[in-house]
This record gives sequence, structure tokens and C-alpha cells, in this order.
Amino acid sequence: MTFFKNLLQVDSAVIDGVSSDASDDLEPFNSDWMKKYRGNTKLVVKPGSTEEVSKILKYCNDHMLAVVPQGGNSGLVGGSVPVFDEIVVNTTRLNSIRSFDEVSGALVVDAGCILEVVDRFLAEKNHIFPLDLGAKGSCHIGGNVATNAGGLRLLRYGSLHGNVLGIEAVLPDGTIVDDLSKLRKNNTGYDLKQLFIGGEGTIGIITGVSILCPQRPKAVNVAFFGLDSFNKVQRAFREAKGQLSEILSAFELMDSQSQDLVHTVTKKKRPLEGDHPFYCLVETSGSNSEHDSEKLERFLENVMSEEIVSDGVLAQDETQMQALWSWREGIPECLGHWGGVYKYDVSIPISELYQLVHDTRERLSAAGLIGSEESYPVVDVVGYGHMGDSNLHLNIATRRFDKEVERRLEPFVYEWIAQRHGSISAEHGLGIAKKPYIGYSRSQTMIKLMKQIKNLYDPVSCHGLCSPVLLPADLVV
Ligand code: FAD
Ligand code: MLT
Ligand code: ZN
Repeated sequence: MTFFKNLLQVDSAVIDGVSSDASDDLEPFNSDWMKKYRGNTKLVVKPGSTEEVSKILKYCNDHMLAVVPQGGNSGLVGGSVPVFDEIVVNTTRLNSIRSFDEVSGALVVDAGCILEVVDRFLAEKNHIFPLDLGAKGSCHIGGNVATNAGGLRLLRYGSLHGNVLGIEAVLPDGTIVDDLSKLRKNNTGYDLKQLFIGGEGTIGIITGVSILCPQRPKAVNVAFFGLDSFNKVQRAFREAKGQLSEILSAFELMDSQSQDLVHTVTKKKRPLEGDHPFYCLVETSGSNSEHDSEKLERFLENVMSEEIVSDGVLAQDETQMQALWSWREGIPECLGHWGGVYKYDVSIPISELYQLVHDTRERLSAAGLIGSEESYPVVDVVGYGHMGDSNLHLNIATRRFDKEVERRLEPFVYEWIAQRHGSISAEHGLGIAKKPYIGYSRSQTMIKLMKQIKNLYDPVSCHGLCSPVLLPADLVV
């Protein structure tokens, strides 16, 4: 506590213009979106410039004060929560759009810009941000880059590792790294910015991002299908790639359990009659509305006549498109309706992708943990995700976080994934939740190399001391 007081006292002298939330309600900064992780920070600083971030980190480094970077705090692995009561460096005030080049599509923004705000700005310029996700209304571009977020259209626009052109960041000792290039090609030595993409704030705080934004598609169409087996989902995906090819922009998977939960919570009318074990949402984005919808209609006719798809519907306008998307994008929020959610974000070869949901449900049923009555901790086991990226979200909706449920799930899920050489975190990162399990997806050699990089950029915390940037997402396992 003395440290915090000291910092506040020197605030105005050492760090001009830094606003702290020491006397405000700190609750939103101390817990996460899922209400699963909790910290007890007494200080949140909101720098308004890269120079202020530099001063804060230098001060904290010199005084051995731990910090945690925080953007929109929408992360799903607890990485932005001050679980060790660190000082929160929140990027909310870094919120300017710095420049946009309408010819090249290169956009430069402050790290604290909200994804949806940036995408609205781009829409006015007939461009689109190459990332979209359910948390777009709150997540920051810096947080997106720090987590290398994947989202709903990675299939079309690719990963941030490819789209980010440059980064401005501050290292733990206050050094400003100015690599805010707007160039698509720059083969002059190591591409160091890649270390910050998906680095989860472990080696520095991102303050600015330069990113390549594509032209906004003129025509978007959405279809929603019901299918009776996961084998048919795979066949439909193969057909979609073949028949829709360059206009395919999303292929999302939802199981019947996920849709039942959305229906129970929202009470909305379902898009299709009857029950289907699986549902898929297919989106096309192109330049010719008539041509694209004809192509999608023909695709739907083909997959229905081949009996790959049991039933399907095409959105007729923007409102219907959004309504269909809500059955996919609304899942994470609806899952939290009963209490707690255990979330696993995995990637494995596509043929086995859904088997994990069956095996997990069987395991929890055998342990007598699932039921419709209040006395059972587990409401249901559901699977959904980005079929196009071989990325499944296995979620266990519970009435409360429960040690016995957790004991049955971990390390079971991680072992299951490791046996299939998959990733225990496809897009959400390690954070505090997955850090102890990195060894299930990475070899000891890879972990050693990561530790060496961490040590190079942030030597203080590698020696086990308090340090900025940061212990929770640290790779010291
Ligand atoms: P935060 O949650 O604040 O932080 C996330 C991590 O990045 C933390 O470790 C934090 O310390 C670090 N960090 C934050 N800002 C910076 C910075 N400027 N510099 C360095 N480190 C920083 N993820 C997907 O990949 N795909 C999805 O489809 C998806 N959908 C989601 C839907 C919902 C409803 C929700 C709640 C989350 C979803 N996510 C998804 C999770 C996703 O990781 C985040 O939403 C987003 O990328 C995090 O941004 P944020 O600004 O909220 O970061
Ligand atoms: C999604 O795809 O909806 C997100 O990654 C969030 C989640 O996994 O629930
Ligand atoms: Zn996802």
C-alpha cells in the first residue's frame, strides 16, 4: 500500500497528465467478463499518450512495481485482471485514429481504440477492419493484437500476424519501440513486431497499431443450415469451399445444445423448424449481390439435394442477416446465464473436432454432475466455433464454479488435445487460465526459447521479482 501511495504522490510530478482511478469504483478493472478471475488493485492508470506509458513503465520498473496492461477487459483467459494486485495500465484514453490511406488501405490507430468504432470509421471509407468478433463493442485494437484474436472471418481475411503492418510499443524499462511501418514489404532483418502480436502484454505495452484494411464488400449474404451429423458438417464445409470459393467469408459451427441454450435465454423464434444436431452459418462477401446470392442459393440447393444439409434458410435483408448471426454471436453471453462457464478454445484436425464435446459430456454425466435440477452443478456441455479454422469452443455451462467439475475437466481436456497434437488455446491466448498447461501444446525447447525472449525484454520479472509486464501472462512455467 505504501508503494501505491508513493506513486500517487509523485504522479503529477513524475507522470504528467496521468489520470488514476484510485478513488473511483475499481470493480470493473478488478474482474473479468466471465466473473471468473478477480484482483484487488488499488490503482488504475489511464495514460493519454505513448510518452506517458513510457514514464509509467520506467517508474514502475525502477521501483519494482508490477503492472498489468488492460484494454477492453474482454479477454477470456484472465490475462487482463490484476490477480496479483498489480497496477492496471488501462488503454482507454489512447483512443485516436491517427491516419488512413484510402489507396493502400493502411490504417494507423492508437491501441485503445474500440474495434467497433474503428470499423464504423472504415465503413464510411468503404473499407473494413480485417477482424470481427462478438466483443467488438468493448475490445480495444491493442488488446486484439496482444491476443492475436481470430474471430468470425479469419477464414477470409487471415490472421493479424499477416495483416498488422507495424507496431508502436513501450518496453518494461520505458523504451519506446517505434516500428509503426505502413509498408507491406520490409525484409530488413527480424520481424520483431510479431513478438507483440499474441504476446499478451508479456514483453511490452502496445500503444499504436498500423494495419492493412481491405475494401468493404458490397454484397454480403448469409445462410443458416441444419445438419444431422458432424460428418455432414464436414462435407458441407468442403462443398462450401469448392462452390463458393473466393466469396466465402465465414463458416461457423453450432451444436443443438448451444442453440437450445440461446433459445431458452432469448425466447426468440428459431430460424429453422424442428431440431437438428448441428447448425452452420455460412456467409459470403463479394462485389455483386445478384451473382453472390445466386451462387449461395445454388449451393444450398445442391447440398440439400445431396442430403448433406437437412434444412436451410437464406437471409433476405440486413435485418434477417443480423438475426441469423445473433444465433451464433449470442452464444457466449447466453452461456453465462446460469452462473459460471468453463471455456476451452481448442484446435485439432477437423475430423475429430467435435468428438471432444461427446467425450466431455460423457465424462461429466458418468460423474453424475449434469442435470436439469438446481442440485447439479452442470447445465450442459456445448460446442461451437470457427469450423473454417478447425477451432472448437468447448463450453461447460454451470450453475456455479465448482471444484469437482473443474477436477473432471482438467487436465482431461488438455490431455485429450495433446494426444491429437492440437492446441490448447487456438485464439484466446494463455493468460492466467492456460499458462500452467502450455506444455501440452509446446515442447520444452519452445518454452525455453520463449523464456529467453521474455528474459531479454523483461529481465526483472524473469528473476522472479515484481516487474511491469507482467507475471499473470508470464511464460515462466
Ligand atoms: P483485454 O481483455 O483487456 O486484454 C487481453 C490480454 O491482452 C491481456 O493479457 C492484457 O494484459 C493484454 N493487453 C491488452 N491491451 C494490451 C496492450 N495495449 N498492449 C499489450 N498487451 C495488452 N477472441 C477471439 O480470438 N475470437 C473471438 O471470436 C472472440 N470472441 C469473443 C466474444 C466475446 C463475447 C468475448 C467477451 C470475448 C471474445 N474473444 C474472442 C476474446 C478476445 O481475446 C477479446 O475479446 C479481445 O481480443 C481482447 O481485447 P481487449 O481489448 O478486451 O483485451
Ligand atoms: C467466439 O467465437 O464466440 C469467441 O471466441 C468467444 C467464445 O469462445 O465464447
Ligand atoms: Zn472464437
